[in-house]
Amino acid sequence: MAYICPLCRQLLQLTDKTWRCSNNHCFDCAKEGYVNLLPVQNKNSKDPGDNQQMMLARRQFLEAGFYQPLSEKVNQIACGLIKQNCQILDIGCGEGYYSNRLFEALNQQVEAQLVGLDISKSAIKYAAKKYKQLQFCVASAYDMPFEDHSIDLMLRIYAPSKLDEIKRVLKKEGYLITVSPAPKHHYAIKELIYEQPRLHPVSEAELDGFKLVEQQQLSWQLEMTDAAMIGHFLEMTPYAWKLTSDQKQQLMQNGLSCELDFQIEIHQLLS
Ligand SMILES: C[S@@+](CC[C@H](N)C(=O)[O-])C[C@H]1O[C@@H](n2cnc3c(N)ncnc32)[C@H](O)[C@@H]1O
Ligand SMILES: [Zn+2]
Repeated sequence: MAYICPLCRQLLQLTDKTWRCSNNHCFDCAKEGYVNLLPVQNKNSKDPGDNQQMMLARRQFLEAGFYQPLSEKVNQIACGLIKQNCQILDIGCGEGYYSNRLFEALNQQVEAQLVGLDISKSAIKYAAKKYKQLQFCVASAYDMPFEDHSIDLMLRIYAPSKLDEIKRVLKKEGYLITVSPAPKHHYAIKELIYEQPRLHPVSEAELDGFKLVEQQQLSWQLEMTDAAMIGHFLEMTPYAWKLTSDQKQQLMQNGLSCELDFQIEIHQLLS
């Protein structure tokens, strides 16, 4: 899939592992195959996005299959929406678990191209190294390196984004699939941290300029006994900082049972 130059917005062409625009701005492919299209001035920190430790913990956890029902649900929805030669973008793709599973599911049905985008260089590096058949770029969801109305389907799983930018890049009548926490998500852990834990607020389902095609809730109980895996799970959530080391130790020794509660929505951009 073609990118646009983050500096002058002209189309980039790939020759000899370098993406180049007509104004001669160049972006080299890293040895893992991804391209970094995040201009230095758009970085709000030296190492934006998830750091390597969080990313590796997430990879271990996801690869063990604990969130596989979510990935399967997303794939099932996406397979019902796509057509031949579809261009797909996974916003905030992290280390590529969902992107790769979606790509594999879709390619049993149609030819599709999938790009994973994330602001975290370490996540993209690992994604590109592992999933060679996919395309990955380091970029911000707030300023994406794609032409106007060029993407058929976008996936946003727990990632930040800006609605106007999604609308710019998505084709008219294209689809956006979002996954966000539903009220009871991770409630058992919140009970350990807060005296009066709050339910996740339900996010606004209707997005301006989109038709809400479908809204689903997917819930199950996560049961974990392996201490190392519980450690990975805590590491990849925002709770790693909030639990005391005693609490973490206890969970790792005694096992963890916790609600998973996801809200999945399909939005279609109005024409
Ligand atoms: C909670 S993780 C979700 C990752 C992946 N979708 C998953 O569910 O495994 C959020 C991701 O958003 C990325 N992220 C944060 N700010 C971003 C931005 N402005 N643009 C693109 N990605 C961003 C983080 O680096 C991280 O990989
Ligand atoms: Zn340029």
